Amino acid sequence: MTETPIIEIENLEKHFVLGGGGMLQRGPVQKLHAVDDVSLAIHPGEAVGLVGESGCGKSTLSRVLCRLADPTAGRIRMKGQDVTDLTTAAFTRSPLRRMIQMVFQDPTESLNPRFTVFDLIADPLRQLAAPANRAELKTKVEAVANAVNLPLPLLSRFPHQLSGGQKARVGIARAMVVEPWLLVLDEPTSALDVSVQATVLQLLDRLRREAGVALLFVSHDLNVVRLLCSRIVVMYLGQVVESGTTEQIFNQPRHPYTRALLSAIPTLRAGQQRERIKLDGEPQSPVNPSPSICRLYGRCPSQQDRCRQIAPELITGTDGRGLRCHFPAA
Ligand SMILES: Nc1ncnc2c1ncn2[C@@H]1O[C@H](COP(=O)(O)OP(=O)(O)OP(=O)(O)O)[C@@H](O)[C@H]1O
Ligand SMILES: [Mg+2]
Repeated sequence: MTETPIIEIENLEKHFVLGGGGMLQRGPVQKLHAVDDVSLAIHPGEAVGLVGESGCGKSTLSRVLCRLADPTAGRIRMKGQDVTDLTTAAFTRSPLRRMIQMVFQDPTESLNPRFTVFDLIADPLRQLAAPANRAELKTKVEAVANAVNLPLPLLSRFPHQLSGGQKARVGIARAMVVEPWLLVLDEPTSALDVSVQATVLQLLDRLRREAGVALLFVSHDLNVVRLLCSRIVVMYLGQVVESGTTEQIFNQPRHPYTRALLSAIPTLRAGQQRERIKLDGEPQSPVNPSPSICRLYGRCPSQQDRCRQIAPELITGTDGRGLRCHFPAA
């Protein structure tokens, strides 16, 4: 793809210093490596899935990517423009701010209970797009409510008067109303029951096709990502371990961690169940991880001595697949 990516991150790191890191602290500084050396590009209209177990850094990466938090190292470019060194305040004032919108996991927590649905949706427009007048504001709010299948009589309600699925739609409407290029969705359906989840996923897919908005879809559920995304990025302990097209990841997973994740998915068709690959052992600590040991070492069914001597780098193959493993499956 030659088109300029909406967002491009290079060797991104986000480390948290634990215990304040002050002068009085004894011993080496404790740094939690939430995101380590992650590179990723998202192109217009694409849907990319970001998966991995709890604590692997998905939310931290999403927040840094949206410039809601500062990276420790690495570069972030939006539409070719380097925004890494902009302060949060300067970024908020920049026209790029509205181009990337984040939708949070729990719609109940992210919706101000004192706002009506109309004002919840109008709020980002007022903040980021300065509508000319009340009539324009109303037109835009109603258009986006229609686009996310939110009946207009609901606009005068408050969040506690909505169902979970309706709240999820309000969250998506709030993000879509400023006509972004990219929606970053952090487990947007995990609080919903399965049937409601499916309608929200269909809605997101339709918005992508009709409005051309790209999606970065964060989930620990590979099945959900499979339905929506054409490309999948798998993270483990702050690093990308494998990335590729949805077909590559599902038909021929090569990293031991991806293989274990996939083997845990129940399939409906008899005889199709993959052999379950279990990761035994304790995960390594994300605090001051050794630079010379593979992060999966200790749990990996394919590990050998080399894996605790030299940590593998992420290598992109001629087929476009990224892989961080000395001994991947064929
Ligand atoms: N503000 C913070 N200070 C210190 N550590 C943090 C902070 N925020 C996140 N972490 C740590 O960073 C790591 C990554 O957390 P993150 O929330 O990004 O994971 P996640 O993949 O989104 O997990 P989940 O699937 O549970 O949402 C975890 O070890 C977490 O404890
Ligand atoms: Mg998270």
